[in-house]
Amino acid sequence: MSSIPDLIKKKRDGETLSDEEIKTFIQAVAKETMQDCQIGAMLMAIWLKGMVDAETSTLTREMMSSGDVMSWPKEWAGHVVDKHSTGGVGDKVSLVLAPALAACGLKVPMISGRGLAFTGGTLDKLESLPGYNVNQSAEQILEILESVGCCIVGQTKKLVPADRVLYAMRDATSTVDSLPLITGSIISKKGAESLNALVLDVKFGRAALYKDLESAKKLAQSLVNAGNSLGMRTGAALSSMDGVIGRCVGNSLEVIESVETLKGKGPKDLMELVTTLGGVLLKMTGSASDLSEGKKKISDAVIGGAALKKFQNMIEKQGVAKETAHSLCSAKTDYFSIMRKSKHQVELKTPAEGIIEDIDGLVLAEITHNLGAGRSKAGEAINHSVGAELLVSLGQRVGKGESWLRLHYDDRAPTSNQMNRLKDAVTVGKQTDTPKQHPSFVKELLLPDAL
Ligand code: URA
Repeated sequence: MSSIPDLIKKKRDGETLSDEEIKTFIQAVAKETMQDCQIGAMLMAIWLKGMVDAETSTLTREMMSSGDVMSWPKEWAGHVVDKHSTGGVGDKVSLVLAPALAACGLKVPMISGRGLAFTGGTLDKLESLPGYNVNQSAEQILEILESVGCCIVGQTKKLVPADRVLYAMRDATSTVDSLPLITGSIISKKGAESLNALVLDVKFGRAALYKDLESAKKLAQSLVNAGNSLGMRTGAALSSMDGVIGRCVGNSLEVIESVETLKGKGPKDLMELVTTLGGVLLKMTGSASDLSEGKKKISDAVIGGAALKKFQNMIEKQGVAKETAHSLCSAKTDYFSIMRKSKHQVELKTPAEGIIEDIDGLVLAEITHNLGAGRSKAGEAINHSVGAELLVSLGQRVGKGESWLRLHYDDRAPTSNQMNRLKDAVTVGKQTDTPKQHPSFVKELLLPDAL
């Protein structure tokens, strides 16, 4: 068997590692028998020389097998699904999609993450709800899926331990942005959920990790290949991320917008993403004969209220008091009697009359993050009430001096520099006779078979 320095040398010299060699590396990482300097050197060798598809698949499989792999009752075979997003501004898709999929008869053991840097985390959003507990044991997850069909929980310590070690080392060695390492990290965790189908929302644009469609497509293809190699039917949507998904950014505000969407009053762009990603999963599991039937089923589950009922049951199972869950999901809800409202709100005005041509989502995300909505290092407390509400949409005609943004803040008040950046985040174009439509987020689908 090769020694660890031999393996590092082989990758350093640009050779392809065998399945056995990758297994040796990952087991040494998981069992903590490898020195940190050796892990760092191997990560840098992978970053520099890359991996062929077969190596990436083996890396992903070995990472998945480094810890517990969930198992499900055999009656659920073919119906266990999840989605992963590479991170967007105001990305609350999971909060609507998980219950909609459950309402369509699928099982959704959604294991989500927390926000870091300017991207929000689904777990942080749900924790705006008093009592919501993201920590659920494998037995509790099984019970919630049995009775409700979906859960949104945090990762347990026993799932993919190799990723925990590698992720921390990647951060410390500037090797985060490596296609095989990102692929191994994301897909191993989804593989450990023992899914039958997985859909990925890979974002590109100003407010995404990947700025252009071509580089996002490379990541999407790598993720799709690795997911399919583990036996999960895996598809991806490539969607643009320049503005905001829906109208709200910030934890409590995004929960409110998600619940409104589940009451059938959601913005069109959010519904487009939810129905497309859900439609792909319904098609891949054979629960719909084609994509358009899949989209319609998801849309009906949301508009008809079945998904709202699932959401209510899910949050109750995950610790929210029965009366609170009921009141949140009733026809008329005073949301701020359930979630705290920030102490201050300020409205920004349009600089001219015309058409809303652009809204810079990255600026909104960065400023609300700095005002307390996000964290700059793991474990930091966040303020769930801080955020921003768009009062206009792209393509809308506005007059001069109309309110276009409501900023919610608490003790950390925006500085004049931050207010100026926010003011510049909207572009009002020349007035034309016909207002433009909101452009579609989803630019392309990568699917295992043509749908
Ligand atoms: N999310 C992950 O879990 N891992 C990565 O490497 C990137 C995003």
